[in-house]
Amino acid sequence: IAATALGGTGLAAPTAGALKAGLAAPRPVSADGDLVEVELVAKQRMQRILAEPAAPSPLITYADHFPGPVIRMRKGQRLRATLVNELDEHTSIHWHGIRLPNLEDGVPYLTQPPTGPGERHVYEFTPPDAGSFFFHPHCNTVELLGRGLAGVLIVEEPDAPKFDADLVCLVKDWQLNKDGSFGTFLTDRGASRAGTFGSVSTVNGAIEPVIEVPANGDIRARLYNIDSTRVVDLRVEGAEGWIIAVDGNPLPPRRLEEGWPMGPAMRIDVLFRAPAKAGQTLRLTNVYSAEPRPLATFRAVGPSLPNKRFKPRALPAADIPEPDLTDAPIVPMAFSATAVAQSFDGLDKAVLAGLPAADASCLSAKTFWAINQQSWPEGGHEHLPPPLLTLEKGRSYIFELANLTPHLHPIHIHGYTFKVLSSDGRKVVPHHADTVLLEPKERLRVAIRADNPGDWMFHCHIIEHQDTGMMGYIRVA
Ligand code: C2O
Ligand code: CU
Repeated sequence: IAATALGGTGLAAPTAGALKAGLAAPRPVSADGDLVEVELVAKQRMQRILAEPAAPSPLITYADHFPGPVIRMRKGQRLRATLVNELDEHTSIHWHGIRLPNLEDGVPYLTQPPTGPGERHVYEFTPPDAGSFFFHPHCNTVELLGRGLAGVLIVEEPDAPKFDADLVCLVKDWQLNKDGSFGTFLTDRGASRAGTFGSVSTVNGAIEPVIEVPANGDIRARLYNIDSTRVVDLRVEGAEGWIIAVDGNPLPPRRLEEGWPMGPAMRIDVLFRAPAKAGQTLRLTNVYSAEPRPLATFRAVGPSLPNKRFKPRALPAADIPEPDLTDAPIVPMAFSATAVAQSFDGLDKAVLAGLPAADASCLSAKTFWAINQQSWPEGGHEHLPPPLLTLEKGRSYIFELANLTPHLHPIHIHGYTFKVLSSDGRKVVPHHADTVLLEPKERLRVAIRADNPGDWMFHCHIIEHQDTGMMGYIRVA
């Protein structure tokens, strides 16, 4: 039985004043279908981000509009997603945060052949966990994600508490010139430091949008940082916000005001009460930098919902394999700068000459970073280095992530969910995550049970860092 699940929350109208995101109920996927089928056509589409007189910008998206699509499905359903590549370079889809079979992981050359221009690739898997996930390409990511190539995958809990609205807020900057054209996504200066920041901040592709929420309703807002560079710490100003999930994984409710900095690719689900009367507003802000920045406004609409007591509600617990910490070896993982930036000229010209032109776009120009002194080789995914390490299937491991640099690095593992244990520099709230923000000079311990066999990417999610060496993979066999 097939069902189509595109569209989702009704996120639309990139520049219109009001986004009807909040009022659209989560789109029901077929009541009893067990297969969700979607087609994702990667291609360039013009869309206005900047106001006139700027021109619409040449985005690259999976659906007619950024943001989109939002795939909503229920836990237990199977997803069959067909990537149709209408770009002039090869690509793939990586399903960020999903504990899926290795062959569905979407890393060109490592887990699948790259999907060339004009080709299709079918992904099929049943997500084992409920939560707020997303997907994006895994080659030339700095440009493709920079131009908007990402989509949302929401897996709903069968037994979640009831919310009056369930909405998605994607925080993303764009590297746009004043005329609406794109600027440079990767610079030596940025890549070797904190990254190149975009020129304009948006939520769901709109600059300071107004997002409607049902008056007096309890709102579940899935807040995503899908930027390539920026770290955010979000607040819903004027309301009591509670974090109820991190990277899709349930968290015992915790006050948002205590802070939860999110690097690129990190997500939180937040519960808050909408203002009691139509017309009243709350503000979504980023307080990470010294100066709080407004990102969006939530405006109450409609007749006020009946008064009820507001209390944070926990989501049903996830079923992540529990690492056995008594028996787990401690594996050091050091994130550092390479001593000398190797330049593009070092590349084997013969290898380069043998590549089709499209592949050249995948090449990283320089190497600035390393994991355990090993840099992802220049030349993109086609020059596979040996794995960073090989883990024994079924065994538990503690990674000691050591940041030897003065920069932040959101560290991401494919195919697994970390159990975040402790830090030598701060108090860590124990939680599950697929991406953890490593602070400058920090040592952070995370654990996994290595039950999912395959070759799994392990990298910084500041895309310029990923593209200039801070990437490797872990083999579980
Ligand atoms: Cu979202 Cu390899 O990452
Ligand atoms: Cu980094």
